[in-house]
Amino acid sequence: MSVIEQLISTFSSDPTTVCIFVAVFIVVLLWRRRSSGGRLPPGPPSYPIVGSYLSLRGTANPFEGFEPLAEKYGDVMFLKFFRAPMLVLSGYETVHEALVKNADMFSDRPDFTATVKLFKDYGDGIVWNNGASWRELRKFALQGMREIGVGRQGVEEKIQEEVTLFVASLAKEEGQPIEFKRRAMKATNNVISSVVFGRRFEYDDPKMSELLKFLDDLFKPQPALANLANLFPWLAVLPPVKKVQNEGLERIVPVLDFIRDRISERQETFDKDIIRDFVDLYHAKRRDNADESVFRGAETTATSLTWHVLYMLHYPDVQKKCQLEIDREVGRGRPVTLADKASLPYTEATVMEVLRMSNTGVLALPHALNQGGEFRGYTLPPATMVMVNLRSVHMQPDKWDKPEVFNPQRFIGPDGHVTRPPAFMPFGLGPRSCTGEMLAKQELFLFFANLLQRFHLKPATPELTSLKGVMGLVNSPQPFEVKFVAR
Ligand code: HEM
Repeated sequence: MSVIEQLISTFSSDPTTVCIFVAVFIVVLLWRRRSSGGRLPPGPPSYPIVGSYLSLRGTANPFEGFEPLAEKYGDVMFLKFFRAPMLVLSGYETVHEALVKNADMFSDRPDFTATVKLFKDYGDGIVWNNGASWRELRKFALQGMREIGVGRQGVEEKIQEEVTLFVASLAKEEGQPIEFKRRAMKATNNVISSVVFGRRFEYDDPKMSELLKFLDDLFKPQPALANLANLFPWLAVLPPVKKVQNEGLERIVPVLDFIRDRISERQETFDKDIIRDFVDLYHAKRRDNADESVFRGAETTATSLTWHVLYMLHYPDVQKKCQLEIDREVGRGRPVTLADKASLPYTEATVMEVLRMSNTGVLALPHALNQGGEFRGYTLPPATMVMVNLRSVHMQPDKWDKPEVFNPQRFIGPDGHVTRPPAFMPFGLGPRSCTGEMLAKQELFLFFANLLQRFHLKPATPELTSLKGVMGLVNSPQPFEVKFVAR
């Protein structure tokens, strides 16, 4: 009888031996996990194939499970998402120590091989790029934004033009129930289009509908099989996995092609002495780069603006206070501009409080320790994905007085001016923080203040939609309708 046959016969005749064998096997696995190349941070148990997934089960989105686990295991928590090693950072001190004090170590993005390969055909984007190429592109994007006037009058005029047309389009349906998010998407896409390509689209232009359809497809949650293929690249040999993976990647292609077409359109009228927008800058610096991240930024801004509307339905007193401030300081005879911001501290503070509580970019974008590294005495293996829980910082009781209460006043100092506490980080922190922060803040303020100047925001249904978000690529409000009633 072979050794294997002997083992099988012993096991089948003695269930106690089977139990002992299984128990020893699990203990050895757990021990191996703890002892593999140094001390790992605490975290839930991890098993072969599924990793720590069993501990995240039962939540609508596995990532929602991070918070109860972090309460148990702490602000530096290690787990395995299936096969992938993952570090989850929570709380201001930890997040700051990682993203600012240890920025060199924590500023990579994970190497999602399939996605990254696709982008290479279109030039490197910023979001999923690493190393020298990412640094150069990021610098170029930030410099470019400054050169074309983000934060100055040039871009404000483009936003203001869009705000006026947006307000006018809502006024045509005054008092009717409106599904806001899709409308907002058209407006924020147009701001991006004006800044980047120097042109906007009419709200009923088929090109705009085409772009929205591409973006809808792109932002649909990925099927579980596609996520699995990213974690286990070898699974792509199986035809069903390959199929969903290809479908996912193909959804990005039309967006990138759309951008390429706009870039080509601009090339025909390019004059190196007149830089009109971002694409002209690209041409002037001889770059050919279709980066879809700008439209991701438009989606995030539209989502955030939608949160602002939903919060105003929940907090009509705050809405009224903003309106009174706008009436008093600006009046109703002309649009609100950025120059008015300093005299509208309550309105600005309301925008900030919605950003703090709604947490559109709740887990930032994944960071990575592609080479591994040491943090707080722990040794992290190479290819560790890092999830940064920004909501944990925005809800930290020792940083915010009654963090669960919606209170714009918390952002106004004793001198009546707006203050920005260090634990306020809706755009992330450190070298990977949002490159669109300045533009997004201008847009949010101008759209929000001008909507409140012109309309009362009223719920379209007797029951208010809950403030609990739906987690996809970003944290979005549940769909709802709103009425814009003329003031
Ligand atoms: C309210 C609107 C927005 C919010 C809340 C937001 C938030 C964020 C957050 C949390 C991150 C991740 C930071 C990290 O990984 O640590 C990010 C990254 C990024 N955002 Fe935004 N964003 C917004 C609008 C925009 C806009 C309008 C643009 C473009 C014009 C933009 C472009 C980017 C880019 C390119 C990155 C990646 C930066 C990098 O990897 O170096 N975002 N954003």
